[in-house]
Amino acid sequence: MANNKPTKKESRMWGGRFSEDTDALVQAFNASVEVDKIMALEDIAGSIAHATMLAEQGILTNVEAEEIIAGLADIRADILAGVFEWKLELEDVHMNIERALTERIGPLGGKLHTARSRNDQVATDFRLWLKKESLEIINLLANLRAVFVSSAETHLGVIMPGYTHLQVAQPLLFSHHLLAYYEMFSRDQERLEDSLKRLNISPLGAGALAGTGFPINRKRSAELLGFDRPADNSLDAVSDRDFALEFLAAASISMMHLSRLSEELILWSSQEFGFISLPDSHTTGSSIMPQKKNPDVAELIRGKTGRVYGHLMALLTVMKALPLAYNKDMQEDKEGVIDSIRTLKISLRLSSDMLPKIKVNAERSKHAAGRAFSNATDLADYLVGKGLPFREAHEVVGRLVAYCLAQDKDLQDLTLGEMQSVLKLIEADVFEALKLETVVNARNSYGGTALEQVRIQIERAKEALDLQE
Ligand code: ARG
Repeated sequence: MANNKPTKKESRMWGGRFSEDTDALVQAFNASVEVDKIMALEDIAGSIAHATMLAEQGILTNVEAEEIIAGLADIRADILAGVFEWKLELEDVHMNIERALTERIGPLGGKLHTARSRNDQVATDFRLWLKKESLEIINLLANLRAVFVSSAETHLGVIMPGYTHLQVAQPLLFSHHLLAYYEMFSRDQERLEDSLKRLNISPLGAGALAGTGFPINRKRSAELLGFDRPADNSLDAVSDRDFALEFLAAASISMMHLSRLSEELILWSSQEFGFISLPDSHTTGSSIMPQKKNPDVAELIRGKTGRVYGHLMALLTVMKALPLAYNKDMQEDKEGVIDSIRTLKISLRLSSDMLPKIKVNAERSKHAAGRAFSNATDLADYLVGKGLPFREAHEVVGRLVAYCLAQDKDLQDLTLGEMQSVLKLIEADVFEALKLETVVNARNSYGGTALEQVRIQIERAKEALDLQE
């Protein structure tokens, strides 16, 4: 499509008031067709709905509308077959298609643009396209949630250390940890579903900014395109891009969740943790170190999160000081959204593919969970059970931990005598209380890590996923 010749005045769609050609560099700078042709099918759908409505309103004759629609269908077939010729000098997807229509059906093609502008057209295309993509992402999120639930079932019973400050805190069921991600991705899905309410509104017929003098029916074109309703204010309809910002914000949050997951997979598969091993299919080797298996996929997901945040920031910045209504700055709205969608979709797919193939080293994670005083809170709780106020119990256990550190032991390694030398209250039943399984299952509060609670979480998640199908 490269073209370094100036655009001839007569080949432009808006040439009437101009006497000179457009500078070649300006043409290349101004054109958006390389980016917005991704919305070609939505552009055609919008035009077909518009022509249908114009005929119903008596603004076009039925015969005219039929010819226009047949011409558009012809163009659609060429685009789908990959033989449509996109021209840079025609600037964007809208004018490429309109010019092709006129070339195919003659001057009648020029009637299609009655009662609309590229300003309502581009907002319509973008919303339709983003709706389609959002629905795909919603499906990918639902799929990932299902993967977390089935992995949680597969690994039920595996115990791992839970961390705060990346210091061992309390033991968790591995499944409980997986289900925390299920919750995050459920909210991500909900966020996108909710955004559809605001996305699925039709700008078509808003015209350049002020509406039109033709007796159009905006409800009808909205309905033909599957929108819930027409936008209520024509100026807002062509000025606003908050639907794209909302998408980018939701995508950023979802990438942040994927990035945290990736980070944990990277940590857990390191030699120091060794809780899991990642599948060969989703790791790569080193060209120099023969022993290496690197978590590149997880690292790249973590890394690509940055660009999605960047796109959100970029569009917020593009929009921040724009006066109403359309400004050419707004042509910058699509690339970042397109890249964010590509990035989020592939990251969701790869995460869904990789997770079920992870091997869990239950021994090693259980061993790690049983160390570093992850049962210290439980010893304090035990003492509370024997009548000690929690603050005092906390202090006593702190002293026992200091003693253990000096001896290089864990709490459960102490003898009853050693414990009683610090506090007489402690009895032989303490060893049962300090066992990992006891510690995990003690946390049977709603949403806690006890096996019973985790089972309930799995059941609830399965019901939610079934309801969706
Ligand atoms: N290519 C333009 C965009 O993406 C379409 C709208 C142009 N409207 C205008 N009045 N120049 O924003």
